[in-house]
Amino acid sequence: MWKTNLRVLAVVLVVVGFYTMVAHIIPQLESEVPEALALGGNVTPEALAGAGEKVYMGAGGCTACHGLGTRAPNLLADHAGTGLIGARCGSRKPGTDCKTYLYESMTEPNKYVVPGFEPIMPDMRRQLADDQIWAVIAYLQSQGGEITVTGADVQAKAAPGDAVAAGAPGSPGAVGSAGAQAAQAAAGAKPGGTTDPRELLTQNGCVGCHQLEGKGAPIGPTFDGIGKRLTAEQIRKAILLPNEDVTKGYETVAGIMPTTFGQTLTAAQLELIVKFLAERK
Ligand code: HEC
Ligand code: HEC
Repeated sequence: MWKTNLRVLAVVLVVVGFYTMVAHIIPQLESEVPEALALGGNVTPEALAGAGEKVYMGAGGCTACHGLGTRAPNLLADHAGTGLIGARCGSRKPGTDCKTYLYESMTEPNKYVVPGFEPIMPDMRRQLADDQIWAVIAYLQSQGGEITVTGADVQAKAAPGDAVAAGAPGSPGAVGSAGAQAAQAAAGAKPGGTTDPRELLTQNGCVGCHQLEGKGAPIGPTFDGIGKRLTAEQIRKAILLPNEDVTKGYETVAGIMPTTFGQTLTAAQLELIVKFLAERK
């Protein structure tokens, strides 16, 4: 019996070691190239909010968490009597105005965690260009508040004198703003990152602990047939908060699954993985 235990321990150590190594080689770098927006310095508040709404509903992946159940505070409706996000943003953190609070919420989400929620929101800079973030802030301010984002905010981080020009939206490698360029440099100049869920499962070390199509290490539950046992919602939660519901039969290895995927995966990558796993029936 102790021999088996030792063997299991050895496998776990090797896998955790492998995972740590992978995490160091590709630290959070697989972000998609942000689609830069074509917003100039004289952009109107309405145009900003309109662009922000598209990002919020689409590429930003915000709706994967916000507005669905109790995983994240609703931004477009009242939250616990504090009003819509445009109304409550100015009074969330004492001494922090609405614009500053919203920028911090999106870029350093763990600095202030809304009471009653888990710190699972990713740093949106990994996924969005700076001008997209400002546009989303304008959109959120328009929900019950006043838009104070201006073209100057949008341009502050762009090349001096250079409008935040856009590459063709969606064309991989299209680099418009200095921000997008920096993001791409940070991403190891790997245009696009991968959108292949199998590759994401490999790159993030998941198959170091979970089997897929009979291959990989059987330390955690197999991914084969996982869609029969769990809904997409349950799978998402298992990835973001692995220690909340420990899978039956895996109590002895509970706690070894990394709890950092909420920070290291972009929202889009998370959704690709969730969808892929939910389809394993
Ligand atoms: C993986 C889930 C997840 C995603 C994706 C996500 N968020 Fe969040 N967000 C949360 C959670 C949970 C909280 C509450 C805890 C906290 O403050 O970090 C939160 C808090 C916030 C807050 C502060 C809300 C308040 O009432 O003070 C803002 C603003 C916000 N998110 C904006 C966004 C925007 C914009 C996007 C998309 C670009 C986004 N979030 C994507 C989970 C997420
Ligand atoms: C170091 C090992 C390890 C790594 C790496 C790991 N997991 Fe896990 N995972 C586990 C273990 C052990 C469990 C079962 C215990 C628990 O629920 O925490 C589990 C549980 C799960 C579950 C719930 C399964 C069920 O049937 O209830 C899902 C879904 C999941 N992991 C997905 C992932 C994904 C996706 C990744 C990569 C992004 C990943 N895991 C990386 C060890 C790991």
